[in-house]
This record gives sequence, C-alpha cells and structure tokens, in this order.
Amino acid sequence: MSEKFKEALRFLVVGGANFVFTLLIYELLLLLVDYRLAYLFAFLAALGFTAVFNINAVFGRQVQRRNSVSYGLYYCLYSAANLALLTVVVEVAGIPEIWAPVAVQVAIFLPHFLLSRYIITAMTKPAGTLDERDFADLAQLQITMLPYSLVSRLGTAYAAAYWRYVASADEELALVRRDESGRIAAACAASLDPASLTRRLAMKTPLAFFAALNCLSPWLWRAAAGILFSHNVAEAEALPKGQPEMVMLLTAPEHRRKGMAREMVGELELQLQTRQIPAYYVRTMASQQAAQHFYKSCGFVESGTFEANGIVYHVLIKQLGPRAERTAP
Ligand SMILES: CC(C)(COP(=O)(O)OP(=O)(O)OC[C@H]1O[C@@H](n2cnc3c(N)ncnc32)[C@H](O)[C@@H]1OP(=O)(O)O)[C@@H](O)C(=O)NCCC(=O)NCCS
Repeated sequence: MSEKFKEALRFLVVGGANFVFTLLIYELLLLLVDYRLAYLFAFLAALGFTAVFNINAVFGRQVQRRNSVSYGLYYCLYSAANLALLTVVVEVAGIPEIWAPVAVQVAIFLPHFLLSRYIITAMTKPAGTLDERDFADLAQLQITMLPYSLVSRLGTAYAAAYWRYVASADEELALVRRDESGRIAAACAASLDPASLTRRLAMKTPLAFFAALNCLSPWLWRAAAGILFSHNVAEAEALPKGQPEMVMLLTAPEHRRKGMAREMVGELELQLQTRQIPAYYVRTMASQQAAQHFYKSCGFVESGTFEANGIVYHVLIKQLGPRAERTAP
C-alpha cells in the first residue's frame, strides 16, 4: 500500500471522527441558533482536533506552533468555504438543513485532502529538521549564553549563519530539543573534523564579511592571530588529534536540569558509535563550572588544560564503547 494511500485512509478516519464530532456540535447548536452560526461554531470547535490529528497522526509531522498556526489559518478558510457551500446547498439546491453538511463534506473531501497534504507536508518542515526561525532562535540562545565566543561576538546574523552551516555540513552533527510550543530549548553541535572547521566556516559562511564589520574590535584581531598563526602550542598539544569535538552545547536557562543536554549527548554518542568513533572531546573554559559538572556526570574525564588569550581551558574526553547490538529475544 503506497504511503499516499495510507495517508488518504488516515485522513478519512480522522476526517470521519472530526465530522462526527462537528456534526454532533452542529446538531446540538441547531436547537439554539441559526444553522449558519451553528455550522461556524462547530467548525471552530473542531479546529484544534483537526490541526493536531492531521499534522501528527495523518501526515506524521511534529505539531509545532508554526505548522499548527498555518494549518489553522487554512482551516479557517476551509470553514468559510464550507459555510458558503452550505448556503448554496441549502438555499439553491434545497437540501434539508440537517443533511446539508453531509453533502458538503462529500463534495469537498478530495480538494480538502490534497490542500491539507500540500500545506502540512510542503509548507511545514518534517520533524527533526531546522528552519529559519530555528536558526534565529539558536543565534539568540548562543549570544545570550555564550556571549564571549567568536560566533556570538560577530552578532546575531552571523550566529544564525553559523548554525545554518553546522546543520547542513556533512562534517558536523547538530541536535536540538524543543519546548512545548516547538521553539528551540536546547542545542548541541559536534564536529567530526574540528581541525578544518574554522577554515570551512571562513570559506562557506559570511565570516569575512562580519569580521570586516568588526574590524576595529581588538578581540577580533586576537582571535584572528590565533587562527591564522596557530600560535598556541599548548592548545595544539592539549587537544586530541583526529577525534570529533563537541563544539557547542546550550540549554536555555528556563529548561535547565530537565535532562535535555544529557539526552542530546546520548543521541550524539549513538551517532558517533554508529560511525565506529571510539572517543570524542570537549573544551570548556575554567569559569564554566556547570558545564564541567555536566560533562563529568556524562562520563567525560579531564585530559588536560591549556591557556589561550589569557583564558584557561579544560579538555575533557569521553571514551565510547562499541554500540550495543540488539539481540533477538
Ligand atoms: C551545561 C548545560 C548545557 C547543561 O544543560 P542541562 O540541560 O541543564 O543539563 P541536564 O539537565 O541534562 O543535566 C544532566 C546532569 O548534569 C549535571 N549538571 C547539569 N547542570 C549542572 C549544574 N549547574 N551544576 C552541577 N551539575 C550540573 C547534573 O549531574 C545533571 O543531572 P541532575 O539534574 O539529575 O542532577 C547548561 O547548563 C548550559 O547551557 N550552560 C551554559 C552554556 C555552556 O556552558 N555550555 C557548555 C559549553 S562547553
């Protein structure tokens, strides 16, 4: 059975349940108000039901504020079209008020299915991918939480460009956790090739442009000197060679201590193990006490320290065992 056919069947079941629900409300309201008003209220009451079930159960998308609002708006237009058609069916075709909704539903099922499918699948993203609003959220989180990182210092627009690159590059892995409204609550990024990350960012993101905008800032020149001349021997010696690096990990303050970061680390490690990667590392500033507690609680062990631009960094490594194979029961 093709996926489109399964979707159409699920749409029919959800639509059927929604129709019964709507019809019940319509028939009850008919006792109190005009049939057009009864119909309108019934559709508004069914709006939440339809948005959640069509997005999630029928088309397999994560319900987020963005897609529920866009589908909700469509559903309002759909309800208005229903109302217009209902008027035609009752006033022109002379079908009794009690049966008119059935005739309307039969007539508009196919265009409604095709439009719903188009709006939910083509105009909203599949679960797990990131869009422009996510990149704006990530940039904001990064600037608020790690204000002294080079990415943050280059400003919101560059931070969004950074996350856009990290989310799409083959050499990086980006994971996020969302709050109930679908906004980004936590994020992490790991690089499988950290040694080339800065060069790739310079070539594939507008790093040079944003650096030029900040050309009078002393911190930029210090960072540039470090990058261009790789002058920090202690750093080069402290960082493990050829291992992936966790380059970013953030949880919004209001979502901390809910296990979001630990969950992302677990998911990241599964992905690394699938690639047969035996270990990875992270560097944290000495002042990032919470981060160090966090990493140690996840099994990282301290492997050394180094100083760069007057800041002391700790390097922590996590050894990964082989991925546990599922055994047949
Ligand atoms: C570090 C950080 C990502 C942790 O995120 P989080 O989602 O709150 O972490 P979790 O809820 O998954 O915590 C898991 C465990 O880590 C440890 N931990 C986390 N935050 C801690 C803190 N502030 N103090 C002590 N231990 C902490 C605890 O053992 C915790 O388990 P518990 O809550 O059952 O005690 C978050 O504090 C943060 O964003 N900090 C600012 C940015 C930063 O420093 N990033 C790291 C850059 S390298």
